[in-house]
Amino acid sequence: MADIVDHPEAYFRQLVPERDALLQVLEAEAKAEEIPIVGPVVGGLLLVLSRATRAQNILELGTATGYSAICLGRGCEPNGGRVLTLEYDGNLAKRAWKNIARANLSETVSVLEADVFEMLPELTGPYDFVFMDIEKKDYLAALGHLEAIVQPGGLLIADNTGFKDAETFNQAMFTSAVWQSVQLFSYLPMHSGIYDGLCFAVRL
Ligand SMILES: C[S@@+](CC[C@H](N)C(=O)[O-])C[C@H]1O[C@@H](n2cnc3c(N)ncnc32)[C@H](O)[C@@H]1O
Repeated sequence: MADIVDHPEAYFRQLVPERDALLQVLEAEAKAEEIPIVGPVVGGLLLVLSRATRAQNILELGTATGYSAICLGRGCEPNGGRVLTLEYDGNLAKRAWKNIARANLSETVSVLEADVFEMLPELTGPYDFVFMDIEKKDYLAALGHLEAIVQPGGLLIADNTGFKDAETFNQAMFTSAVWQSVQLFSYLPMHSGIYDGLCFAVRL
């Protein structure tokens, strides 16, 4: 039987993707101000998946300072994709807008200062990729809106499903006839919760 590497956490910690100066600044700010961003591992995952799926119309729920939106923008830009990201905190939305401009992604990523629950009924999509990262207790309510605007075959990724507040969402996904989903509980260095769940789902 093949052996797993010794000290797997230290091993995978050294394999965290390299980041440019902008993302490193956002990571330092997030640490200093306790802003819960996805960090380099989930950020790298978002870039890989948005690139590999050739996502054209991405919706992000919960922007903060724009770290994950930049990762999504970098992933979809080569294929002409677009990102709409929603943030209800005006100060954070402004910071995200500036950071996205610094990343030269203003043509690709739009930040909308708005409450997700005011905007979702207005959005028609269709979206082929959604990243959900708002209050975990609100995931289930958001899911109800997403069914209508995510196209069949579209990908939904929900962060922090290891949090107790995501329990109602997790149960709904587990029994859903609309979404085919899988949960991963992972070691995620530099993530807000270095052990956490991620839900991946495809709209049937
Ligand atoms: C975990 S942070 C997002 C982090 C970001 N996705 C990243 O990794 O860079 C969650 C953000 O969602 C925002 N938020 C929470 N509930 C919201 C809602 N109902 N509408 C809009 N924004 C919301 C919060 O203000 C916060 O900035």
